[in-house]
Amino acid sequence: MAVQEQRANNTLEQYIAAVRSVWGDGKDPQLPFKVKALMEKLFASTSPDDPWMAELIREGKPSRELYRDPDYGFIQMGHVHKQGHGNLPHDHGPCWVVYGAYSGVTEITKYKRTDDGSEPGKAALEKDRLDRLTPGVVVPYLRGDIHSTNAVQGPAVVFRFLSYDLEKIERYRYNPEKGTMVKV
Ligand SMILES: [Fe+2]
Repeated sequence: MAVQEQRANNTLEQYIAAVRSVWGDGKDPQLPFKVKALMEKLFASTSPDDPWMAELIREGKPSRELYRDPDYGFIQMGHVHKQGHGNLPHDHGPCWVVYGAYSGVTEITKYKRTDDGSEPGKAALEKDRLDRLTPGVVVPYLRGDIHSTNAVQGPAVVFRFLSYDLEKIERYRYNPEKGTMVKV
């Protein structure tokens, strides 16, 4: 049964139903921006005392799958990152991703490749943009965007919407100092 046909019991379920209702064939280039707007609405309408959010915060897990869509394949993750939690630059292959801060501050650096990609295992990166995700700020990263995250003020409750399961696609992690890239 489709989620939007059920009664949404909380703001998370309302958000999921709204994403499903705009999904269509999943190919609309505006979709990442539509999900961004819906996630902003989710954050604005959710209190830290709402039972589902209170549980996420109380458990404090670095990574939790909150929802996986049985029809469209998108996934909503919830993360609680300690201050200083970060990762190396990576891409999400053919997927797009929407990062949102519910609490704390997370900085996300976006990179551009300056090499031509002709040498296997090598990649030269240059910093392109720094996004500062303060509470309520949501930013989409489109297919192929290379980025790294850093929780500069924690604990940071971060929502990550994945257009598809990252375990099922080819993607890479980059080491800007060494100029290398490896398959994740
Ligand atoms: Fe990412």
